[in-house]
Amino acid sequence: MQKPTRKYTYREVDESEVVSALEDIFVIRPQTLRNICKHFVNELTLGLKEDGHTLKMIPSYVSRRPNGKETGSYLALDLGGTNFRVCEVYLEGDSKVRLTQKKFTIPDYAKCGQSDVLFDFLADSVLTFITENNIPTETDIPLGFTFSFPVNQTALDKGYLMGWTKGFDCKDTVGKDVVELLNEALARKNVKVHVSALVNDTVGTLMSHAYNDPGTFVGVILGTGTNAAYVEKVSAIPKWKGGPVESGEMIINCEWGAFDNERVVLPFNKYDQKMDDESNNKGEQTFEKMISGLYLGEIVRQVIVDLVQRRVLFGGISSPEIETPYKFETAYMSRIERDHSSDLLDTKLVLQELLNVPYPAPRDRRIVRRICELVATRAARLAAVGVAAVVTKMDRVGDGCTVAIDGSVYEHYPHFGNRMKDAIHELLGMFEENVSLQLGKDGSSVGAGVIAALA
Ligand code: BGC
Repeated sequence: MQKPTRKYTYREVDESEVVSALEDIFVIRPQTLRNICKHFVNELTLGLKEDGHTLKMIPSYVSRRPNGKETGSYLALDLGGTNFRVCEVYLEGDSKVRLTQKKFTIPDYAKCGQSDVLFDFLADSVLTFITENNIPTETDIPLGFTFSFPVNQTALDKGYLMGWTKGFDCKDTVGKDVVELLNEALARKNVKVHVSALVNDTVGTLMSHAYNDPGTFVGVILGTGTNAAYVEKVSAIPKWKGGPVESGEMIINCEWGAFDNERVVLPFNKYDQKMDDESNNKGEQTFEKMISGLYLGEIVRQVIVDLVQRRVLFGGISSPEIETPYKFETAYMSRIERDHSSDLLDTKLVLQELLNVPYPAPRDRRIVRRICELVATRAARLAAVGVAAVVTKMDRVGDGCTVAIDGSVYEHYPHFGNRMKDAIHELLGMFEENVSLQLGKDGSSVGAGVIAALA
């Protein structure tokens, strides 16, 4: 086969010049990290005071942590990321859990259509799962519903949707109780299951990890979206009007994706701005848009498009794929960052075969790899600021705690965890050792089971 050759001539801008201009935009220096962290702690405190602040700080109505002895079998339904899952969670006591699950892909028409279409799809999936696994339905089965969007929770099994995130947009769901919507859909399909707990994925991750590690005080999601939940003292939640709580503590869903929507401390740059302008929730989820898997690839694409337009990359020649929003997936970034070959051959493959760039020269591949590194490192450092701020707010920097983290970005993106640790070290110094970041796999589903058991 004939090797493609460059058919263009252009003045090649010095590679180091291109890279250093990008570094100026994307690198977050330690002093900036510290400023963001300070502002973050203030915002956490403010959100606990009263409603209406940027961080919603939602009391989850989960006020007891498990001891690992809980037993029983529970259904869990997990909606919130790219996939939707129905699971049967067996708590065996002794901190052991077994999980049977089935994943479903949510069709786009259900993500952005009428509420009923989405909830009927969920109910149908539950029915399929129950039938396939011969789950007896003589009595109503309790189900933990992990619903990973901001809801105004008014009871363990009641929550009104405040707004969609992560590309979902069923307009008529906003303001409604999502538990009621699911119960109605289950009844329409004659499925004998009732929702006993409404759970955010961060709360589920915290609870599922606490089932075998009692030192777990924080649950974080770094996946399609991002968010955190942590254990707060009820006395530190002035806005709590739900009466006395026996344990004296309450798990708070921070909804940290909205952090700095007013854009005062985050280094939100022209590429972030362009991506935000073109998104379906412009001006919202600022922190999430700089960190989570739905957006990282799109930021990289925005940078590439700009460099191509300025004729400093790929000789100024683009491709329809490069020009299409969200075509540059975050998974491609992982692949490129994993490419340690001297000629960046896998990077070349990604660019040529998946993105149809005609001739990505070695220089171009190195620049693209550096863009991925810069965007992902910035994300990891910002996620670390969030963790450090929450641990500081809880006053556990000295005593330490386990932070359970789930989500595709944390689990699969190379070096993400280590980059976070480096940044936590910059923020907390030697106390960084006290903050143990642990992968909490399947936490959002298992946690829903644990919460249903405690309920
Ligand atoms: C949602 C949160 C969720 C997070 C991670 C965000 O977009 O608002 O509720 O916890 O994504 O899934």
